[in-house]
Amino acid sequence: MGENENENESVPPGLCAVIAYNLKKGIKGGAIDSEAEYDSFETIDAIKKALETEGIKVDLIEADTGFPDKIRQSKADIVFNIAEGLSGRGREAHIPAILSFLGIPYTGSDETTLCLSLDKAITKRYLSAFGFATPRYQVVREPAFVLDPELKFPVIVKPNQEGSGKGISEIAIADCEEQLRNVVAKNLATYDQPMLIEEFIKGREFTVGILGNGDGASAFEPMEIKYLSSKREESIYSYNVKCNYKKYVEYVCPPADLPAGKTEEIKEIALGIHKTLECRDFSRIDFRMSEDGTVYFIEINPLPGLAPGYSDFPMLAGFCGTGYNELVLSVLKNALARYGRFPSGGPVCTTGRIKDGAEESENVGNS
Ligand SMILES: Nc1ncnc2c1ncn2[C@@H]1O[C@H](COP(=O)(O)OP(=O)(O)OP(=O)(O)O)[C@@H](O)[C@H]1O
Ligand SMILES: [Mg+2]
Repeated sequence: MGENENENESVPPGLCAVIAYNLKKGIKGGAIDSEAEYDSFETIDAIKKALETEGIKVDLIEADTGFPDKIRQSKADIVFNIAEGLSGRGREAHIPAILSFLGIPYTGSDETTLCLSLDKAITKRYLSAFGFATPRYQVVREPAFVLDPELKFPVIVKPNQEGSGKGISEIAIADCEEQLRNVVAKNLATYDQPMLIEEFIKGREFTVGILGNGDGASAFEPMEIKYLSSKREESIYSYNVKCNYKKYVEYVCPPADLPAGKTEEIKEIALGIHKTLECRDFSRIDFRMSEDGTVYFIEINPLPGLAPGYSDFPMLAGFCGTGYNELVLSVLKNALARYGRFPSGGPVCTTGRIKDGAEESENVGNS
């Protein structure tokens, strides 16, 4: 990874941060992966401890319906946002929209980018317009759909607006129309949202982590998700494979035996996508490379998981020598720079929340 321009800056003394999150509750009933997108207490605590290593005062506010009132009463300088949202098409955008509305600084992408990126089909259409390669696809909303004759089997079926492998099971790949209709009908009933049918790209899989903003963003080395099984249903990063990754996956970072220039090409594409979607501070982008060497965009996570020892982003950062605390702090520092806290960060902060020095920060206690 190139030098991240803000990583050596120190955070303003007395800074108060709030972590906004949705906690896994272990609710029984519904699909087994119904809480796949939410975070465990261990993850929230790990982020808190990482921020505390630089003397930041950290409070936790759950991103539930009480959030708007609680955050208005808090004196937080900045929100470290990992909230996935409760439900709906724009769920990841809800907390950023509230914070933008209230003028409270926060880490990560804004509501527009999060709304767009959560919808896999709209993101594919948007990025195609900028020339990024992505598998051919169709979105279906009901079981009795008319199949696009241009789609070639095998195809993979995914809920259009989920992550963490949610809704991607052993039967996600279909070789014929009958199988396809079967999985679409099942998933429509379970996940209550449109299904994305996408041509299946046979080939190697990579994920790329990015830190930073605009032209100052930099990419970590791509991490290859190498499947240990030759069975096709075990060679996708499904919910089951993610949960049991030690059994099914080997992670290789940087990837071995790629044709000359391919690693750089993948990083460049990832940076181009981060910039095109106007992602902020961090993101993680998934690719599959077909046997002819085309690098296909699969999806982007502008709010990538940060579970230590589990999520791909901290894992790939670790392979590249960036430890967990450093990664979390880097996300925060990139956000602070955007709000003008650091000399390298552009315009001076206008929100009035982030203060420029110890004296001013004395009265920024938090509720
Ligand atoms: N078109 C495709 N061709 C081949 N494999 C695919 C394709 N789309 C998805 N996959 C496989 O399914 C996995 C999950 O798909 P995708 O990344 O879209 O889901 P996700 O749940 O949003 O992932 P994340 O956990 O990264 O948020 C991919 O990592 C890949 O292994
Ligand atoms: Mg993915």
